[in-house]
Amino acid sequence: MQIQTHVQLPSKYVQYSLEEYAKYLVDFLEQYSWLYRPHIVDFFLDSTWEASVPEEWREPLQELDLNELLVLPTLDKPLEKYLPASLLEFIRDANQIVLPRQLDNTISNKQLSKYITCTQKPVPVDDTLIGKELVKGMNSKKKHEVDILANLISHVCEEQNTTRVVDIGAGQGYLAHILACNYNLNVYVIDSNTSQIQNSQARTQRLSKFSTESMLLFSTLTIEINLSSINAHLKCDLTLEELEDILGEEKSEQGVTLVGNHTCGDLAPTMIRLFHHFLESSNNQNVTMINVGCCYHLLTEEKKSTAGFPLSSILCNTSIFLNKRGRML
Ligand SMILES: C[S@@+](CC[C@H](N)C(=O)[O-])C[C@H]1O[C@@H](n2cnc3c(N)ncnc32)[C@H](O)[C@@H]1O
Repeated sequence: MQIQTHVQLPSKYVQYSLEEYAKYLVDFLEQYSWLYRPHIVDFFLDSTWEASVPEEWREPLQELDLNELLVLPTLDKPLEKYLPASLLEFIRDANQIVLPRQLDNTISNKQLSKYITCTQKPVPVDDTLIGKELVKGMNSKKKHEVDILANLISHVCEEQNTTRVVDIGAGQGYLAHILACNYNLNVYVIDSNTSQIQNSQARTQRLSKFSTESMLLFSTLTIEINLSSINAHLKCDLTLEELEDILGEEKSEQGVTLVGNHTCGDLAPTMIRLFHHFLESSNNQNVTMINVGCCYHLLTEEKKSTAGFPLSSILCNTSIFLNKRGRML
C-alpha cells in the first residue's frame, strides 16, 4: 500500500519537497543553535547573555518593555525601526519556516467544530452511580481533555467504521473507560506501569457492576464493558506481530484507532512507527492515529531505528542534534 504524505508546508516553502523543507529546517536550527543550546539554569554562571547573544541584539532587546517583548515574535511594525537587521531576519525566518498551525482545507470548519468540542458527556452523568465512577479521580482539567478527546475519537471511529481502539500509555484508563462506557467502543488499555493497570482493572470491575442507576436499584445486573487492561512495555521498534501478541489477538483484519493521551518521550514515536507498520501491512483496514504527545525532552536522541528522535530517514541523514534543551523548547 502506498502511504500518502499529507503535510501542508508553509507558504514560502510550498514549491519544495518535504526533503528540501526538512533540510531548510535543519539549517535554520543549526544556524541558531546558540539560542537553544545554552543551559538556562547556568544562564548567570556561564554569562550566556554576553557569551551567546550577538552584541548588536543585546542593547535593543534590553530597551524593550514587557509588552514590546511579548509582541516581538509577531514583528509589530513600530518595533522594526529599533531592531538590527540580523534580529529582524531571524524573526522573519522563524515565522516563515514554521508549519501552518491551522488545519488544511480538507477538513471544514463545521466538521472541525463537531469533532473538537466539549460534549460534557461525562458531566450530566456525574450524578449517576456509573457517572460518578467514570469521573472518579479526574480533576476538572482531566475531565475536560478526556471529554473532548473521547468525542473526537468516537467520531473518527464512526467514520472509519471501526470499534477497536488501542490506548497506548493509557495510565489507569480514564479516557479508555469513557470510550468503552459512553461510546460502546472495544478498548485495549496498554501501560507499562503495573499499578496503573491494576487501577484500570479495578475501575472496570466497579463499573461493570452498574448498568444504569435505576437498574442498580432493582437488581444486581452487570453490564459488559469491552475493555481489556494489559500490562506491557512497548519498545520503540515494536512490530505488529508483537502488538498482536500483547493484545492476545490473531492477525486481525479489523480496523483500528490508535490513541495516546500525553504519550511522554519515546512513547509518541513508538506509536507513530506502529501506525506506519499498520499502514504498510493493512489490507484495506482502516487505521487511524490520534495522539497528544508530551515531555519531548524525554525523547532519546540517537540516529538509529530504536531512538525517539529523529524519526524520519531524512533527518537521520542530516547533522541534526537538538539536545535536551532544544527538545524542551
Ligand atoms: C503521562 S502518562 C499518561 C497517562 C494517560 N494516558 C492519561 O492521559 O492520563 C504516560 C503513561 O505512559 C506509560 N508509558 C510510558 N512509556 C511506556 C511504554 N514504553 N510502554 C507502555 N506504557 C508506557 C506510563 O506508565 C504512563 O502511565
